[in-house]
Amino acid sequence: MMYVIDLFSGAGGFSEGARQAGAVVILAVDCWQAALDVHAANHLDCHHWREEVGGHPAELAGRLRAFIGANVPAGQLVHVHASPPCQRLSKANRSSRDTDVGLRLTRFALDVVQAVGCHSWTIEQVSAPAVRKLMDDRGVKYRHLHFDKYGVPSIRRRLIASSVPLDDLPVCVAPPLTLREVMTVAGMQPPEGYDAQRDGSSKPTRRRLDDTSYTVTTRAPVLWNDALGKELALPHVVRSLLQTFPPGYKFGKHSKKMVANAVPPEMSRRLLLHVMRHNSDAPTLTTAGDRSRAST
Ligand SMILES: C[S@@+](CC[C@H](N)C(=O)[O-])C[C@H]1O[C@@H](n2cnc3c(N)ncnc32)[C@H](O)[C@@H]1O
Repeated sequence: MMYVIDLFSGAGGFSEGARQAGAVVILAVDCWQAALDVHAANHLDCHHWREEVGGHPAELAGRLRAFIGANVPAGQLVHVHASPPCQRLSKANRSSRDTDVGLRLTRFALDVVQAVGCHSWTIEQVSAPAVRKLMDDRGVKYRHLHFDKYGVPSIRRRLIASSVPLDDLPVCVAPPLTLREVMTVAGMQPPEGYDAQRDGSSKPTRRRLDDTSYTVTTRAPVLWNDALGKELALPHVVRSLLQTFPPGYKFGKHSKKMVANAVPPEMSRRLLLHVMRHNSDAPTLTTAGDRSRAST
């Protein structure tokens, strides 16, 4: 059995994939109450810590080790995942001051996952030069994953740093669904004339509906009508399917941002299965609980 701690959990995209991979998600940490409420509604037996992390990494790592000692049976595998926020690192905010702020929580996440000393960890972030430099400087292995190669029907691309090698992460043989196919799964046909998609940026580009979707953000993808020069937002059900959330996933308010923020569950399911295969030979963790049991 693998137990998972999800740092910067948001509404639980990563957690949902971990659950689907057969792991038990035991703790989600985030500062956004509405996202934790959604996480809690979908991951009933999970503990939730609402807090703004980013202080001393050793302090949080110590609390996580104590939590593991109290909640994970001895000898079980523990994986820690972190998805620190990426807004300040993305192309739209590339001033050096913003990059410093964005990098701080990524460095913090790396410090924490390494200090906890569990069997395995992953970090998801945008592939900004500053992030790559951080990982290179720390000798951490990472890969840029094109999520459409792993069963996600969008061109989302992210840097995944991991304690286990990702070179042999199996790709999906079948091509990804197109936006039109995902809309069909959702029971929706594009309105007449809306036969393209746009990326919602200030200098929008366009793709066909018969192409894979643009990365899901709060502004994209949108349907586009060339003749009218008008765009149309996609409904939540399509956006959440594009991010591979299961149809029954319970979202509340702010679902647009939560869906856009998420690690697509299908991506995290595949990542976790891969980590489990690598971890199956790993020695077991000595948790705080193990130590206290051993000393009595
Ligand atoms: C990229 S999103 C995480 C998405 C999530 N992994 C998923 O798959 O659904 C980043 C999250 O970090 C949270 N966050 C930002 N700064 C934080 C901080 N200092 N402490 C805790 N959470 C923070 C945000 O509320 C947001 O939910």
